[in-house]
Amino acid sequence: MKAAVLHDGGKLTIEDIPVPKIGPGQALVKVAACGVCHTDLHYIEHGVPTFKKPPIVLGHEASGVVERIGEGVTNLTPGQRVLIPAVLTCGKCSACRLGRENICSDMTMLGNHFDGAYAEYVAVPAKDVLDLPELIPLEEASIIADALSTPYHAVKNRARVRAGDTVVVFGCGGVGINAVQLATASGASVIAVDISEKKLEWAREFGAVHTINASKIERVDKEVKKLTGGGADIAMEVIGNPKTIETAFDCVRVGGRLCVVGYTHEKISIVAGKIMFKEVEIIGSLGCRPVDYIPLIRMVEQGKIDIKRLVTHRFDLDGLMDAFDVMKEGMSLRSIVIP
Ligand code: APR
Repeated sequence: MKAAVLHDGGKLTIEDIPVPKIGPGQALVKVAACGVCHTDLHYIEHGVPTFKKPPIVLGHEASGVVERIGEGVTNLTPGQRVLIPAVLTCGKCSACRLGRENICSDMTMLGNHFDGAYAEYVAVPAKDVLDLPELIPLEEASIIADALSTPYHAVKNRARVRAGDTVVVFGCGGVGINAVQLATASGASVIAVDISEKKLEWAREFGAVHTINASKIERVDKEVKKLTGGGADIAMEVIGNPKTIETAFDCVRVGGRLCVVGYTHEKISIVAGKIMFKEVEIIGSLGCRPVDYIPLIRMVEQGKIDIKRLVTHRFDLDGLMDAFDVMKEGMSLRSIVIP
């Protein structure tokens, strides 16, 4: 089968490799599509190591059709349309037992700990795979596995967005645009912040009532305070930049919340007294829990979340590097690869 294989030194090549063998409890899924995520670019261009030493097939945002099931699998049948969660949890550690599987201490990820889905076939533990209702288009469904599930957890469980809230979202890329869409679907009034006019145009299409181009305005926090009459109930940072995390904090009203979804290994600087006096909650959000997938899939099925419009570009496996170029140029919301 054809697959995109990462080698030492970040070299990605499209190769012919054997179809994965499945063992007991596993399923072989014929990949319908795999979303192209920024995380993959970290492995290829920024020297971030994968847990499994290369060579490794990348790709962690996949949908497909069950081809074969291994011994003992009772929850899937060949021919079934499925979604493969990007991250698989152990179910045994204390976080899992507390119902917080997304921070599992022994989590594994497709295309990171084991071979992923930029390939014609992928082998996965059957217990983690989710059924996809007929109404949901199979290829576009791939992006539910990460680009939608991550902001779903952030908006619903961590930022706890409710109807009537004002929410400012920093960063309207693949993940942030869905924070805009999901917060809007929850009944919030959303202010979207980005430095790209194209992204802000998309943010308006996906429900933002106000947009702020941070490259054209010096004090985004002042503008947010003006628009909200004193500060947003909730700020979400979906970039991973210490400066925007700090600005997002400054946008929050007294008693509000800052939810950090973007990843950075750098430090942030916030006056501690402001956290105390303003009783601001600072909350992290990582991925999503297995239990979140069913309500999220239902929202997509009911048309509350539009996945068709989110997929702006399609490539075959040979076009994967072009997909990364489009992403770097900021021209895509989400690209999918159809092996
Ligand atoms: N101010 C506002 N917006 C910015 C700024 C800035 N200073 N810098 C970048 N942006 C915007 C970009 O224009 C882009 O639209 O942030 C967005 C980032 O989007 P993507 O690059 O598509 O990244 P995405 O896949 O959405 O991930 C964002 O979320 O889950 C985490 O690890 C992930 O840290 C990453 C973050």
